[in-house]
This record gives sequence, structure tokens and C-alpha cells, in this order.
Amino acid sequence: MKPIYLGTNWKMHKTIRESEQYANVLKEASGTIPEGFTIFIIPPFLSLPRVSAILTGTGIKVGAQNMHWEPQGAFTGEVSPLMLTEIGIEIVEIGHSERRQYFGENDFTVNKKVLSALRHRLTPLVCVGEPAIEKSYGVQKEYVLRQVRIALHGVSAEELSNIMLAYEPVWSIGESGVPAEPAYAESMHTWIREALSSQFGGEKAETVPILYGGSVNSENAGAFLRQSHIDGLFIGRAAWEARDFLRIIWDMEKQLSAMT
Ligand code: PGA
Repeated sequence: MKPIYLGTNWKMHKTIRESEQYANVLKEASGTIPEGFTIFIIPPFLSLPRVSAILTGTGIKVGAQNMHWEPQGAFTGEVSPLMLTEIGIEIVEIGHSERRQYFGENDFTVNKKVLSALRHRLTPLVCVGEPAIEKSYGVQKEYVLRQVRIALHGVSAEELSNIMLAYEPVWSIGESGVPAEPAYAESMHTWIREALSSQFGGEKAETVPILYGGSVNSENAGAFLRQSHIDGLFIGRAAWEARDFLRIIWDMEKQLSAMT
């Protein structure tokens, strides 16, 4: 079975207490995580120290939803990579469409953050995806490949193996989102893989997990993971209850091992 990545972004949900409860449920079930599955959760900043402490030693990774590119400085309201690594954070989500849409992030700030994360030994989880208008003009491939190319500008072939990508079409995310057709997502994942391959070489390109995100749920998760260039899923709402997330994890193992 190919390695599988399953993660959830909590967005601005869960207090510290709610986060602890979730993390404790995952910790108790950590022995049931199937081999070859990388599981990660991305809580809000305030919950990170507690969640990270609870999950230490379980193999379940903890990520942050954002960070500044500087290690410190006059940047009121921001969180630095040093602050994240100090508490054992391994992954940092960069350029989620909500950050781009509401907080002015763009491909160039995403690139600065990616380079900084790598310098600080954090794994950037770079989010890309086209808005509905680009899709309606049929330019989604150009749009997303441009995002990927700028995000990875200045990244070396060696550093590439520390990067994760999430393809999340903007029109598929959240309550009003419609999940992409698995074949549509697969085409985009294939184009991204080809672009990485021509820039960094095929072998290096294979090391980058490309996750799909956008209205993933227990019903459609299997259809995405059966696509050969979809290495994992980045899940929002459907994984905000620990038991729901665990059910998806267990179910994916069942479905994928039935295929092999
Ligand atoms: P959703 O969120 O699964 O609730 O659509 C996905 C995301 O924003 O990463």
C-alpha cells in the first residue's frame, strides 16, 4: 500500500479544553493508526503547547496554521518559526485559501514562509488551489502551477523532500463548497507532479506528498485516495470530532488494503 497522509485543519475552532479532549482521544487510539499512515492535526495556536505535549511519542504530528517568516521582530500579532519549534511543532500550513482571501497572503509571502520554515526544520504544508472564476475560464492548470512554482522558488532539490503540498480548489472548501470530482483532482495532482519532476527531477518529485482537500468526508475519501497521484487528504469539517477522524483513518486502511 502506498504511504498515506491524513490531516485535519481545525481553522478557528476549539478552545484549549476542547483541543485537549480531542488530543486525548487520538492519543488513546494511537496504537490503532495503520502502518504507513502519517496522521497530523493542525489546531489553533493557543492549543498547540498542550496538544503537542499530549501527543508526544504517539507518532501523530502536530502542525500550526500559519507563521511569520522572520524568527523575531516588530510584527505585532504574529507567531515565529522559533516559537513553533520550541514546543515540538513539526508541520506548518502555509497559504491556506482563507489566509490568502482574508489576510492578504499571496504567492510571494507564501514563498518567504516556505523558505523560512525549511531553514527552521519545519515541514511546510503548502496549500494551492484555483478560485471558481479561474476554473470557469479553464485556466486552473496555469493558475495552480504558477502558485506552486512561486511557492517553491529557491527551494533546492534536497529540501524538496521536506515539503508537503495540498491541492484545495477554493470552490470546494467549506460549507458552501462542492467536492472536486476525484478525476478532476487527479488531473491536477498529475500536472503538479509533472511540474515538480521537470524542475527537480522525477525521483525528488516522487518524495512530495500531494494531498487533496475541500469537502472531504467519510463517503468520498476513498474515491480520492484510490487515485494514483493523490497521496493523502487534508480534511476540515468532517474531522473536527476525534472519533469521526479516527473512523475515516480506519476505513481508509480497510478500503486501500482491500485493493492490494
Ligand atoms: P473542508 O475544509 O473540508 O471543511 O471543506 C478543507 C480545508 O479548508 O482545508
